[in-house]
Amino acid sequence: MEFLSRAILSRSESTQILCEMSQIDESTLDIQQTEDGVLGRLFVFSSTSPQTAISIRKYEDVTVGRGNTNTYQLIQSTASYRHFRVYSVLVDDDMDPLVYCEDLSSNGTFLNHCLIGKGNVVLLSDGDILDVRHCASFLYQQKNITDDDYHHEYDGDEFSITHRLLGTGGFSRIYMAIENKTGRQYACKIIDKKKVSSTRFYDDHEVSILKKLNHPNIVHVAMDYNSENQFFIFEELVTGGDLFSYLTKMGTVPEVTCLFIMYQMLQALGYLHSQNIAHRDLKLENILIVSSNDSVFRIILTDFGVARCMEKGKRMSTFVGTLEYTAPEIRDLKGRSRRCKEMNMGYGKEVDIWSLGIIMYLLLSGNSPTFSSDGTIVFEDEVWKTISRQAKDLISSFLQKLPIQRPTVQEAEEHPWFFRHKSRLEKLYKTRILKQYPL
Ligand SMILES: Nc1ncnc2c1ncn2[C@@H]1O[C@H](COP(=O)(O)OP(=O)(O)O)[C@@H](O)[C@H]1O
Ligand SMILES: [Mg+2]
Repeated sequence: MEFLSRAILSRSESTQILCEMSQIDESTLDIQQTEDGVLGRLFVFSSTSPQTAISIRKYEDVTVGRGNTNTYQLIQSTASYRHFRVYSVLVDDDMDPLVYCEDLSSNGTFLNHCLIGKGNVVLLSDGDILDVRHCASFLYQQKNITDDDYHHEYDGDEFSITHRLLGTGGFSRIYMAIENKTGRQYACKIIDKKKVSSTRFYDDHEVSILKKLNHPNIVHVAMDYNSENQFFIFEELVTGGDLFSYLTKMGTVPEVTCLFIMYQMLQALGYLHSQNIAHRDLKLENILIVSSNDSVFRIILTDFGVARCMEKGKRMSTFVGTLEYTAPEIRDLKGRSRRCKEMNMGYGKEVDIWSLGIIMYLLLSGNSPTFSSDGTIVFEDEVWKTISRQAKDLISSFLQKLPIQRPTVQEAEEHPWFFRHKSRLEKLYKTRILKQYPL
C-alpha cells in the first residue's frame, strides 16, 4: 500500500485524469491481494466511473476498449473498440512475470506520457501509468518484486539499464534497457567475461557474428559495449517470451503453428548456413516469439554465444551446445577434441539440423524424443496419432545419426510437409514477416 501511494505521488503530474483523482480505495487493494494467481493489477481511474482494479492473471489477456467483450469497457467514443491489450509471459518460476501492453488503437495508448503506437508493445514495470486520453488512466502494480541487485559496469550515455530481468542463460543475464534519446525499450545482454572462455570471447564473440547479419528471423543488435569484466549487447526487445515458455504454457503446439515456426527456422538457418555460420546451440530457449496472440507469429533466433563462422574446408571440433539438443557427432567428440582438430575430422553445419529435429519433436509432443536400439526414433505416445505422417517423416530425417544423411536446409524445404503448403507458406511469410520487417 505504501508503495502504491508513492507511485502515484511521483507520477501525479504526468496524467491529467490522475491529478483529478482521489486517494486509492484501500479495500479494493486488500480484496485483490488475497486472490490466487494474480500477477499484478491495473488500477483504473476515470472521471465517469468508480475506481476499480483489474487483476492480471497468468496466461489471461486483459483487453480495454469500447467494445463490450473487453475485460474493461470504456464508454467514451474516442476510445477504440479494442484499445490496448495486457498480457503476461512467464519465463521462469524464479523470475518476476513479464507483463506487456500492446497498443491496438490508432488514437494511441500512452505509457508514462509517451505514445506506444499501434502494433507496438511495451514491458510494464511497477508504478507505470497507461493512458487512454480523455477516457481513463491505469496504474500498473506488480504483485511480487524481486530485489535484483546485480551490478553492471556500463557507464555509457546512450542507454539506461533497468533492474527488470528478462531472462538468464549460462553466461549472461538479460535486462530491459531504455534508450535515453528515444525512451524506447531494448534488451541488454550482460555477459560475464569470467564465465566465458577467453578464446570464445575474443576470437569469435557473438556480437561480431550478429553484426554481420540482417534477417527478420534473427535478433537485431543496436549497440555493444565493453567494460573490464562485462560485455554488453543492446538488442531489440522481443516481447512474446521464448519458445520454452510458450511450450510450457501450451503443453503441445498445434501442427499448423509448428509448421510456420519451422518454416521460419529454415529461413533463418538457410541464411546462416549460406554464410558458413553454424549456430550450434539451437534450442527452445534461444528462439524468441514476437507476440503469440495468433496461431501464426514471428520468431526470432537469438543467442549466438557459441555460433561459429566456419573456415572453408575446416570442420569444427569444440564440444559445445546443450546436451539434450546436441547431435551425436558432437557428443562423440568428448575428450577427443584436440585430436579431431589436428586431423580436421570434427563436425559441420549438420549439427543444427539435428537440433531442429529435437525442437520439432518437442513442440509437437511436449516430450524429448526416445530412440530405439537401432537409433531410429520412436513415435509411441498417444499424441503422435493425430500428427501427420509427413511431420514424423521429417523429424526422422532431421534425426539421422549420420550427419550426411540429414537434409540440408534447401532439401528440408522441399520435404512434403512444407512442400504441400509451399505457396501458402510463402504468402504468409511475405505478408506477415517480410512486409513488416523487410530485409
Ligand atoms: N532480445 C530479447 N528480448 C527478450 N528476451 C530475451 C532477449 N534475448 C534473450 N532473452 C531471454 O533471455 C534468455 C537468455 O538469453 P540468451 O541470449 O539465450 O543468453 P545465454 O547466452 O546466457 O543463454 C532467453 O532464453 C530469453 O528468454
Ligand atoms: Mg541461451
